[in-house]
Amino acid sequence: MEDTLKALVSEVEEGIPSVQSRPDFEAFKARFVGPNGSLKEAMRGMAQVSKEDKPRIGKLINEAKKALEAIFQSALDSIEAVELKARLGEAVDPSLPSPDPEPGNLHPLTQVRNEIVQILKSVGFVVAEGPEVETEYFCFDALNTPKDHPARDLQDTFYLPEDATFGNVSKQADERYLLRTHTSTVQIRTMLKQDPPVRIISPGRCFRRDSTDATHSASFTQVEGLYVDKGVTVMDLKAILDFLLKSLLGQEAKTRFRPHFFPYTEPSFEMDASSAHLAKVGKEWVELGGCGMVDPNVFKAVDYDPQVYSGYAFGFGIERIAMIMYGIDDIRYFYQNDYRFLKQFI
Ligand code: DAH
Repeated sequence: MEDTLKALVSEVEEGIPSVQSRPDFEAFKARFVGPNGSLKEAMRGMAQVSKEDKPRIGKLINEAKKALEAIFQSALDSIEAVELKARLGEAVDPSLPSPDPEPGNLHPLTQVRNEIVQILKSVGFVVAEGPEVETEYFCFDALNTPKDHPARDLQDTFYLPEDATFGNVSKQADERYLLRTHTSTVQIRTMLKQDPPVRIISPGRCFRRDSTDATHSASFTQVEGLYVDKGVTVMDLKAILDFLLKSLLGQEAKTRFRPHFFPYTEPSFEMDASSAHLAKVGKEWVELGGCGMVDPNVFKAVDYDPQVYSGYAFGFGIERIAMIMYGIDDIRYFYQNDYRFLKQFI
């Protein structure tokens, strides 16, 4: 028995170098370890082995099995390496990064945000930031929003539990934390930090208790703009928005202001844009956001003198702009991360 096993292992060792292809390999392997292979045959001999010898011979069989497995595995590895080389060609350098036909790219909203920032930076705006978790003061009070304004309603705004704390955002004892409903909060934070002139834009996420549909989402992105100096007028406001939208949508794009009301501007307007891009979504004009001349009460809240300074402010949704630019008719595409949608923006 011992000799049979030894002979079997050396037969495999001698035969394996001539096995070069996968079919040959399978056939060769079956001859030894297949159901009718020589190893099975040898194992049948166990019946004749005396009781005392059984443990020793059993151990030998196991060792032989292991030796065969190792030989077969290394033979298979070399066959597979040859096959791979044949498939990929000779010049494979495994230390090189693999060719990636579909590289990652920036999300369309990030691309549009970057473009807006770039355009406004080119005329002197700087980017300012503020936290997404805010207080009622920055989101409403300092922006001249009355206590009973509907935007403050629980149905419109996400409030945090009363006992929530945030190390980097402080609040008054009787205030609540909330998720900011607009980026206008950054106007206040900036004006409290610096004296005029101020010329900032602030892109960022906002949150509202809206149920999601083709044009609403509980989380969305806005860009806020604020310019405060001596002698700023509605003409400046109109000019900057016209410049921005023509730069984004093409020189034929038009802007239109409609009178509106916002607590933090007086006068206030809604701005609409019209562009050839809109034909894709079957519209002539779309509403982009709001704007106006900073209300004197806002200046008072940040200790700017409304007799000396004036300013304009605007805020609009980045999703809206991206939808116009690319003819997208459903806001939900931006958040689903469907690769078929995203790869169109590479
Ligand atoms: N905060 C407004 C909104 O979320 C947009 C807005 C309107 C921003 C007028 C402004 C403004 O700065 O002056 O709909």
